[in-house]
Amino acid sequence: MCKWYKFARKLQFLALKQHLNDQVRFDQQVDNSRSYVLPFIEKTHQIGPGTAVFEVGTAEGGVLVPFLERGCTCLGVDLAPERIVLAKAFLEPHIAAGKAEILLKNIYDDDFLARFKGAFDIIILKDVIEHVPNQEAFVPYLKNFLKPGGQIFFGFPPWYMPFGGHQQICRKKWPSVVPYYHILPRFMYRGILQASGEGEDVVKELMEIKDTQITIERFERIVKASGLKVLHKEHYLINPIYKYKFGLQPRKQTPLLSWIPFFRNFVTTCVYYTVG
Ligand SMILES: C[S@@+](CC[C@H](N)C(=O)[O-])C[C@H]1O[C@@H](n2cnc3c(N)ncnc32)[C@H](O)[C@@H]1O
Repeated sequence: MCKWYKFARKLQFLALKQHLNDQVRFDQQVDNSRSYVLPFIEKTHQIGPGTAVFEVGTAEGGVLVPFLERGCTCLGVDLAPERIVLAKAFLEPHIAAGKAEILLKNIYDDDFLARFKGAFDIIILKDVIEHVPNQEAFVPYLKNFLKPGGQIFFGFPPWYMPFGGHQQICRKKWPSVVPYYHILPRFMYRGILQASGEGEDVVKELMEIKDTQITIERFERIVKASGLKVLHKEHYLINPIYKYKFGLQPRKQTPLLSWIPFFRNFVTTCVYYTVG
């Protein structure tokens, strides 16, 4: 068996383990948030008792745990009912203590806006913005929920990075470990996914991500057009979450590569931004 095939199988096994086990996924969210997300946000905004935090796309809610441990009050919202059930179970003690709330809710709903307008110091979108359609309207809409001086954190994989199509979620082996083919024209990408036997649910999700693709340059243009400023940013050669997915040590991008427009998207697996 060739070395590449063995490596690819190991990557697929690690990625699958993370996708299949709820507790593993929750623990990884907690650890990643404690080690990277909270320290990053803290560079530009104080985090402590009284800080109101809102996570859009909270999934199992693990990202919020380090903020709860600091005494923040937290709201997590997601559109996936099965993940909301898990988040409610994982965060049950914090919910019972009145420090956390988890909602299955579309943040565009009028009653949501009426209840939470101007309510938050920090909004977190980690690995979410690349799933959201019409980001040009979505990012300025988020400003409605900020208190004066509030900030928004974004963490996402740029579209052109090796697995920017999220093809690692494929259930079949080859489609989940081959980099860059998500960049192919739409009909070819769909054709490859279907021909490899991927389920329609996975194909649909991957095509949605292809439609919402976001690059570093487009993201920064959206932030500017929304009347927001970049307060801090970090580009990673190796995404901090690859520690759990693939056993790789996180690594920041070199300043030179991080500076080269367009090309940097191909070699940067994750970016963190705070804007406000
Ligand atoms: C890749 S997961 C990231 C979960 C978590 N933030 C983390 O970092 O582990 C993306 C989550 O965003 C949710 N999501 C996507 N679009 C959304 C939207 N418009 N509003 C709320 N949640 C959304 C999905 O249901 C999913 O749970």
